Amino acid sequence: MKDIRQSLASILFLVGGGLLPATAQQIIPISTKNNALVLQVNADKELNTIYLGKKLANESEYAAIASQYRQGSDYTGIYNSAYTPAGSKNLLEPAIAIIHTDGNTSTDLHYVSHKTSAAGNGISQTEIILKDPAYPVEVHLFVKSYEAQDVIEQWTTISHKEKGNITLNKYASANLYLKGQNDFWLNQHYGDWAAEMKPEEVRLTHGIKTIDSKLGSRTNMFQPSSFMISLHKPATEDEGDVLMGGLEWSGNFRNDFEVDPLNNLRILSGINNFNGAYKLKKDEVFTTPKFWFTLSHEGKTKASHNLHNWAREYKILDGKGDRLTLLNNWEATYFDFDEAKLKTLISDSKKLGVDLFLLDDGWFGNKHPRNADNSSLGDWEENKKKLPNGIASLVKTAKDNQVKFGIWLEPEMVSPASELYEKHPDWVIKEKNRPEYYFRNQLVLDLSNPKVQDFVYSVVDNLFTKNPELAYIKWDCNAVIYNAHSSYLGANQSNLYTDYVKGLYSVLERIRKKYPTVPMMLCSGGGGRVDYGALPYFTEYWPSDNTDPLERIFIQWEYSNFYPALASGNHVTDWGKQSIKYRTDVAMMGKLGFDIVVSHLNENDLKFCQEALKNYGTLNKTIWQGDQYRLQSPWDNDAAAVSYVSKDGSQSVLFTYMVNNRYNTGTLTPIKLKGLEGNTKYKVEEINVYPGKKASFETAEYSGDFLMNVGVNPNATTSNTSVVLKITRK
Ligand code: GLA
Repeated sequence: MKDIRQSLASILFLVGGGLLPATAQQIIPISTKNNALVLQVNADKELNTIYLGKKLANESEYAAIASQYRQGSDYTGIYNSAYTPAGSKNLLEPAIAIIHTDGNTSTDLHYVSHKTSAAGNGISQTEIILKDPAYPVEVHLFVKSYEAQDVIEQWTTISHKEKGNITLNKYASANLYLKGQNDFWLNQHYGDWAAEMKPEEVRLTHGIKTIDSKLGSRTNMFQPSSFMISLHKPATEDEGDVLMGGLEWSGNFRNDFEVDPLNNLRILSGINNFNGAYKLKKDEVFTTPKFWFTLSHEGKTKASHNLHNWAREYKILDGKGDRLTLLNNWEATYFDFDEAKLKTLISDSKKLGVDLFLLDDGWFGNKHPRNADNSSLGDWEENKKKLPNGIASLVKTAKDNQVKFGIWLEPEMVSPASELYEKHPDWVIKEKNRPEYYFRNQLVLDLSNPKVQDFVYSVVDNLFTKNPELAYIKWDCNAVIYNAHSSYLGANQSNLYTDYVKGLYSVLERIRKKYPTVPMMLCSGGGGRVDYGALPYFTEYWPSDNTDPLERIFIQWEYSNFYPALASGNHVTDWGKQSIKYRTDVAMMGKLGFDIVVSHLNENDLKFCQEALKNYGTLNKTIWQGDQYRLQSPWDNDAAAVSYVSKDGSQSVLFTYMVNNRYNTGTLTPIKLKGLEGNTKYKVEEINVYPGKKASFETAEYSGDFLMNVGVNPNATTSNTSVVLKITRK
């Protein structure tokens, strides 16, 4: 990528329908493999977005783009600022709104300079310096491009030299601008606990559609910041222009989609300014979170591949590494366990054939023992009654059984019935003058306070110091922030939502400095916190507490638009009425785990699970690191089909599940595979066949050509509700 500076002083160009003499313009094109984001500095030193779309072969032609569109002008008041300031001439939704120390509410930003630096691996970063001509306020706009993955990140830094604090009333990360067509389709997700990621698609009308969160923590419970915008018509898996984007932020977010009167779409994404006006000190540099996006011209699958490749490379901890299969005790015991029971479960982990045993909630608290969800959070010491010999003894039993040991924590939280609360009421987020409101009987610790950050860090650090062989942490976050008030922040209360997340990230940063590789699951009562701001510290996320496999087919399908299967924690549990085969097959489409009482399995069920784990061992690299194809949607078919193809093309796996059990339904027609080599022969065989049952698919060899153009029929029916086909290059 290179910047070109172009003086067009001698050229005449069309503005607002008339011929005007051109003035010096400067073009800043930022490109990835297929796309370009083109910014332009106009004669008034304003930085505008003139293009976001397919990359042109000849960069010099970008200069001619602006003249092809009806421009905003002094007569329309519509401008295409790349970072819209409030209170000067822009009257549309701003990216940045400031109250200066003298009370003035206007900001204007003029281009000063820019530089682009290459960071290797096809990554380059452009930094554009903008300054307010009337106030000592500086904004640096950053655009980072990942050439190979076709992904761009945008964010800003904001600083000032005014006397005292300025107030940032809005401070978006990005202000995208898609040129006029008046046919933008927003695909968003909504949900609730155990009902995550329900899709909705609408055609955007003029004005603003806002998607946001005000929950403080667990901020994705109702909706995530990730979204899709299709251009012209809703994109399908293989066709259409679609932009997928989202914010790398685990706190309150706000996405504005504004269609302006000239039919342009403005996308503003950043921290939510709701009760969040940020007081910024002189010389302090405020960095907004990164906004990520990718643009595909070949439908959603391509966009997802871009994101999966990017995430595994840069945005998920150990994204290229392996993952541990596990047995979790949450649904097997809930709070009702003791050492003996756990030791049996640990030896069951070995019998089952998983890598790790994960001890869930209920192991801590003495003055207030954790026997239900209404006490003890904050008192992270082994409960002496349940675990008289401590965690160390469980770690040892795990070792004796050649499995690893992991543990559940919810370190950001505090129960009103806890020693922590008794000792440090000022560490708790709550309004002093109001009754306490609880979410799952608990409150949130004030992570804006450095002392609380130290405490949360020490909870994790102590556990590792005492148990150096601890191999996994499930980090939970079950409550939202009610009564948002910090004893620490004094007069700067509206910094709380933002400083909470910054505090959380600084704790995670410290943990990762000392424990860089230990796997951690990002959980938040299910999928209340799944975003690329947190995932660099975590190896996986928990999509939903809803583990009914039928529900999971839909939930995992939707998450897969944005996140790779490698990071999706999928457990076989007793939710739903489906067979153990169906439950296991669904959980295999990601990072497989179990949350069942192994001793309750009958002989065939156990044998099936053991075999499935072995099969998983031969396929997991393909599922974790390969290209995923959403072949047949569960939303409008009797059977859903998803496949994964290894990057070297040698292996693929096709999962097919019935999602309807009406009479005579099933895969009546073949399923066309994708991503194979046409001229290559493949062996197709059914795996995960239940002991004693006849396979529903006969092993045979087919060419890639046949598999992709005719397809194969896995013969899923109401009595054969899930079929897994392994496809191996000959
Ligand atoms: C949350 C998690 C569950 C489990 C419980 C324990 O709900 O999502 O998986 O860990 O907490 O209390």
